[in-house]
Amino acid sequence: MMHSAPPLPIVRSVADLRAQIGEWRRQGLRIGFVPTMGALHDGHMGLIREAASRADRVVASVFVNPTQFAPHEDLGRYPRQEAEDAAMLAGAGCHLLFAPDVETMYPPGAATTIAMAGPALGLEGDFRPQMFGGVALVVTKLFNLIQPDLAIFGEKDFQQLMVVRRFTADLDLPVEIVASPTERDGWGLALSSRNAYLSPEQLEIARRLNGVLAEAGVAAASGRPLPGVEKDAYAALLKTGFDRIDYVAVRRAEDLAVFRNQVADAPARILAAAWIGKTRLIDNMAI
Ligand code: PAF
Repeated sequence: MMHSAPPLPIVRSVADLRAQIGEWRRQGLRIGFVPTMGALHDGHMGLIREAASRADRVVASVFVNPTQFAPHEDLGRYPRQEAEDAAMLAGAGCHLLFAPDVETMYPPGAATTIAMAGPALGLEGDFRPQMFGGVALVVTKLFNLIQPDLAIFGEKDFQQLMVVRRFTADLDLPVEIVASPTERDGWGLALSSRNAYLSPEQLEIARRLNGVLAEAGVAAASGRPLPGVEKDAYAALLKTGFDRIDYVAVRRAEDLAVFRNQVADAPARILAAAWIGKTRLIDNMAI
């Protein structure tokens, strides 16, 4: 017989959230946090399990954060499925879901923004200039509300992970940032909420992204000059069926800086963003 997990408590107000967190704090429990925008999949469950292995209580948030989307982006189209999300979270060992509405996170009159340089510049920052300021703002707010001991971020959004590490240090937020490896399907496609937009034909194209990046990574590791590696990977992605490439780039793994000598002479990461129809996919891997 299958035993389903008990329903997950969901809180929507800051007062209810603080009451629960306060109780756990008084009991001396260690709190792990996994921020999400919902439309959860196995990739997120890996993050929840990671948090559960390191903390006594796991809090997840589901909040589709408007400040990290530009007006023309897919905020309105972003999938919303709270009941399914809550059931998955409960099954993976989550103890509490914080699912605020937009007015709770950004009440009328809210006037504070966070501007970031460093790892927020270039790559995603060139194509989605509002993204990392929005992520920094919402994650800082969530850290202040939840006061977790640790928070888990997926390597799938590698630049986001670097940005989170940066502002957590810069703003002296007392939260340990833990990276969790990208979960992939049987074809190596990085799991993403946006994969749900893909038709079967588009899915087939999407599944070739990781192979192209792996091949380019081998070329970069062999010492080939990076402009040629990046150009070939760009062409390979178009040939594979991607409609448009925002970037495919090899960067220093430590801080995402460009290699001055144009060869990968230190630990490197290859990162890409590419479009199939109206869907934008990102992926990255260590070289
Ligand atoms: O990675 C995401 O889903 C979002 O950028 C995050 C970290 C939940 C902030 O809205």
